[in-house]
Amino acid sequence: MELIKVRNYEELSEYAGKLVLEKVNTLENPVLGLATGSTPEGLYQYLINQYKEGKVSFEHVVTFNLDEYVGLEKDDINSYNYYMNEKLFKHIGIPRNQTYLPDGNAIDLNEEATNYENRIKQAGNIDLQILGLGLNGHIGFNEPGTPFTSRTHIVQLDESTRQANARFFISIDEVPSQAITMGIETIMESKQIVLLVSGEGKAEALHRVINGEVSEEFPASILQKHPHVIIVADEAACKLL
Ligand code: F6R
Repeated sequence: MELIKVRNYEELSEYAGKLVLEKVNTLENPVLGLATGSTPEGLYQYLINQYKEGKVSFEHVVTFNLDEYVGLEKDDINSYNYYMNEKLFKHIGIPRNQTYLPDGNAIDLNEEATNYENRIKQAGNIDLQILGLGLNGHIGFNEPGTPFTSRTHIVQLDESTRQANARFFISIDEVPSQAITMGIETIMESKQIVLLVSGEGKAEALHRVINGEVSEEFPASILQKHPHVIIVADEAACKLL
């Protein structure tokens, strides 16, 4: 794992943005893996700015998001589909039929999970996967205890994750209790992974990612086994390193 320490969130976003642009500008058919949450917002804004300045085109890019809540309509303001549209897709001229998220409203969710896996394979696997880090070590919605061999699947969300995400909802009762997420093995098949970690609150989790034992009890620890991981972390997040 390569650790890139940056001073602050702005630098983190710019550094990650440049890694994304490098793929988008050099690969013929770049396939990006994307995350939601607070951490990648600055990265997405950076990409929007670069697009508006005419420095990049996303017409040839295919994207796969890590996860989606189960049971929210696509246009629900808390769905990850809505988030991606508002925070990135609608601003960068990417054809929407090249942007994939798991369908959390599919009638048969297990079938949707299999189809999602197949779509990723057909696209030639993910060239660069952006990840955020959960306080409990989750990546995507793979909570502690998820087998490292997991593929895209349906999960029950941890109470701690629901609470952490409640800030986006009117109340915790509205936070869905299930999600559909790429599995850990799916994520690990990405050719390159960029883990973004910002803020003092993530310092303990980042310490475990880098120095902890590789254990299903802390899913992100598996990244130690991936051949091409770049961790971009700000000073606050690196406090315990
Ligand atoms: C989001 C996702 C999650 C988040 C993680 C960190 O698609 O898969 O694993 O990356 O919960 O979230 P933030 O960035 O809000 O701290």
